[in-house]
Amino acid sequence: MSEFIVTIDGPAGSGKSSVAKGVAQKLGFEYLNTGAMYRAIAFELHSKGLNPNDDISGELERITMDYKDGCLYVNGKKVGDEIRSLEVSSLASDFARVPAVRKALTRIQRAIAKGRHIVVEGRDMGTVVFPTANVKIFLTASLKERVFRRMRELQMKGIFLSHKEIEDEIKQRDRQDSSRPIAPLKPAENSVVIDTTKKSLDEVIDEVSSLVLRRIRNEDPHRR
Ligand code: DC
Repeated sequence: MSEFIVTIDGPAGSGKSSVAKGVAQKLGFEYLNTGAMYRAIAFELHSKGLNPNDDISGELERITMDYKDGCLYVNGKKVGDEIRSLEVSSLASDFARVPAVRKALTRIQRAIAKGRHIVVEGRDMGTVVFPTANVKIFLTASLKERVFRRMRELQMKGIFLSHKEIEDEIKQRDRQDSSRPIAPLKPAENSVVIDTTKKSLDEVIDEVSSLVLRRIRNEDPHRR
């Protein structure tokens, strides 16, 4: 088995990152967080005073991105918690609508995954970037649960925001990410949809890992 790709897509707060990390750890796979790539590129372009409507093709050509040991490097510099604020969440969603940004990141994501056993998470992993992935998962959860999870996650990073601020931001991003013309957020064909609202993280990690193992052993009746 030279390459094995597991895609995990879903809206903000559906549990993608925690599940993808957990499954990768359990199975000894690598892990790629593509949301962090969109955040990092938006952060970089915004710090240079650029907006999604500007001509950013020159900047995109110059930006380098590496992913080593679960850490993202932009132009050789390690990316940290500066990309986790609500402002950067919303900037990432804005820049993610720009075709040149998606094209550049899709190319980098495919290059990173080539020849590896990897769990990749984002919005368009199963639909656009890896349409022939071995296992495709789409995670959902109720809005209430997603707001609660995001609130807890931000609090752990020392960011304290009201329920309403987080709910408004998530709703706005859901709308924008699902309605954009290129690579909108939607379940891929042949994806397994899992509602995580009432499930613990470990339950979902176990469910996805078993699915991957069954498919590796060719025992899954829903195989493509
Ligand atoms: O997963 P996240 O919340 O960190 O992603 C931030 C934004 O990046 C998200 O609102 C939309 C964009 N994104 C995307 O368009 N495609 C991806 N594969 C991953 C993220």
